[in-house]
Amino acid sequence: MWKKTAIGIVLGALVVAFAFGVGTTVLTQEEEVPAIPGITVEDDHPNGCVNCHRERPDIGRDFRLSTYIEEWATEGTPEEILELAQAAWPEASLSGKHPNVAEMTATRELPTACMTCHSEEGDKPLSSYLHLQHFAGGAENHFVTLYGGYCTQCHSVDLNLEEPPAGGIGIKTGKEGE
Ligand code: HEC
Ligand code: HEC
Ligand code: HEC
Repeated sequence: MWKKTAIGIVLGALVVAFAFGVGTTVLTQEEEVPAIPGITVEDDHPNGCVNCHRERPDIGRDFRLSTYIEEWATEGTPEEILELAQAAWPEASLSGKHPNVAEMTATRELPTACMTCHSEEGDKPLSSYLHLQHFAGGAENHFVTLYGGYCTQCHSVDLNLEEPPAGGIGIKTGKEGE
């Protein structure tokens, strides 16, 4: 009788273990904590845009925003980008040629310099386009696959309790090449 119950308990425990997928690996608390930049782990991109959108000679690519703007202004904006921008900005009529502000983009604080023409009040707010560009497609989007898709890659959260009011959300900024 005692033996049967013991076997029952062991079998029961095994069934539960497999049902929850903990057959061989045991998850620790630490492994379950998400690696949120600036919140649970150090922020590798404290200056936002310019830390990711930079020259990468190691892979022969140039992801600088000033390079994109130069291309959009001279060769025209790629169709995929125009499509997202048009979806974000239904009121705007886009020609597919960006004003050539490459020099300003290369030398001024970003994305602050973009906001003079892409403010929340206008018909082309940068935020809605950027949210689409970095999240549309879900698991197909490289921002999600390569950078975890964390909001805090671009946004900062004010967690300084010593200087109220705290808790606000900001945007990280920086200059190209710094
Ligand atoms: C942590 C890295 C990271 C940060 C920070 C970041 N981006 Fe990106 N960005 C990416 C990746 C990855 C893609 C490609 C996404 C995809 O698969 O469409 C991308 C795509 C883009 C594109 C489209 C480029 C193209 O040719 O398709 C633009 C424009 C852009 N980002 C602007 C910005 C701006 C402006 C900021 C700052 C407010 C910013 N990004 C911050 C990683 C980043
Ligand atoms: C001098 C004003 C100005 C500045 C500064 C500016 N833009 Fe624009 N942007 C525009 C205008 C005007 C359009 C519409 C172009 C069109 O007709 O397609 C546009 C369109 C866009 C589009 C949609 C694609 C396209 O070519 O229409 C993206 C994406 C964009 N801007 C991103 C940026 C980013 C990122 C920055 C900062 C690095 C920036 N812009 C700075 C004026 C500006
Ligand atoms: C690629 C950079 C980037 C990422 C990633 C990003 N944002 Fe933003 N977001 C911006 C920019 C740029 C603005 C405009 C900031 C300004 O006006 O000063 C903005 C503005 C906003 C705003 C205010 C304007 C609006 O659209 O209502 C909200 C809310 C917001 N973001 C939420 C989020 C959330 C939630 C996430 C994560 C799911 C996220 N953002 C991820 C760049 C980003």
